[in-house]
Amino acid sequence: MPVTILGIESSCDETSAAVLIDGQIVSNITADQSVHAKYGGVVPELASRAHQANIIPVVSATLRDANIDLKKLNAVAFTQGPGLLGALMVGTSYAKGLALALDIPLIAVHHMQAHILAHFIKYPHPQFPFLCLTVSGGHTQIVLAQDHLQMKVIGQTIDDAAGEAFDKTAKMLGLNYPGGPLIDKYAKQGNGDKFHFPEPQVPDLNFSFSGLKTSILYFLRDEIRKNENFIQENLYDLCASIQKTIAGILLKKMIKAAKHTGIREIAISGGVSANSELRRLFTENAKELGWNIYIPDLEYCTDNAAMIAITGYYKYLKKEFAEQTIIPLARIPELKSH
Ligand code: KG4
Ligand code: ZN
Repeated sequence: MPVTILGIESSCDETSAAVLIDGQIVSNITADQSVHAKYGGVVPELASRAHQANIIPVVSATLRDANIDLKKLNAVAFTQGPGLLGALMVGTSYAKGLALALDIPLIAVHHMQAHILAHFIKYPHPQFPFLCLTVSGGHTQIVLAQDHLQMKVIGQTIDDAAGEAFDKTAKMLGLNYPGGPLIDKYAKQGNGDKFHFPEPQVPDLNFSFSGLKTSILYFLRDEIRKNENFIQENLYDLCASIQKTIAGILLKKMIKAAKHTGIREIAISGGVSANSELRRLFTENAKELGWNIYIPDLEYCTDNAAMIAITGYYKYLKKEFAEQTIIPLARIPELKSH
């Protein structure tokens, strides 16, 4: 009997559903929420409402695309956290209701673990133990993965996440939310060596991005005093320079983590791993560093339900099921920091 799992993701501003049959993703459909663009960030209440409107059509479309009936499902996996509480509530309630109605197991998934297990959707898979740099809108972590379900955070940001660094500096440049993909787009026409920003000096394997954000803010303020069109005239070079700085900071810390642990199986994941400069920089340096590098396809970098379904699959094999009393958690401590 094949194992068929429905995955549901609703932690932030993407409503996504995926169907996995025997470890293979057969459908993955995501509805983005354009409603936030003009506010410069995700508005939690608007996100919850959009999830409510989207969840049933997205699940129906996914089942149709997979050509399966609800009755074929063996389990429902959903994002329990971390994320926006109201947004998580929608996916959690829907998954609980469906599991109850179909009398099938319910599986709670940790969103950050799912970003890492996105590497098991397609071959080649990283070999255990491996290190994963998970860079998203809310988190920046270096995780030591010992097994599909055993992971330890060995470094993380002490302030802003890498995605926030992209989004907040994009906002200073007058770009809409989310600014990361726009910086990436404009950087393609710019010179990354044009402007230099100080790199944070953080000991151990932790990160800090708030100092970089402040230095860019002051730099722009000073330049605009001299020339009010400074941003418009230098947008492409600014984007390329900011992107190059952030990618460089991430690579340096990963080199340190690899040396510290002696691990050469290196993966990147999360929304910021969609960044073309980060992908290029890690790929370009991997050979010299003796790394086997793993970078997910673009559709599995940003939030998606395929990663929830694959994590659900590994939990299903271990019979790690949730009770109907389970609640979503905005902060969830499961991936342990040492
Ligand atoms: O993993 P994700 O989809 O959601 C969270 O779990 O937070 O990550 C979203 C983040 C946003 O900060 C967005 O700007 C960033 O990923 N991002 C990018 C790119 N695509 C998405 N940052 C830089 N370059 C990109 N191409
Ligand atoms: Zn995410």
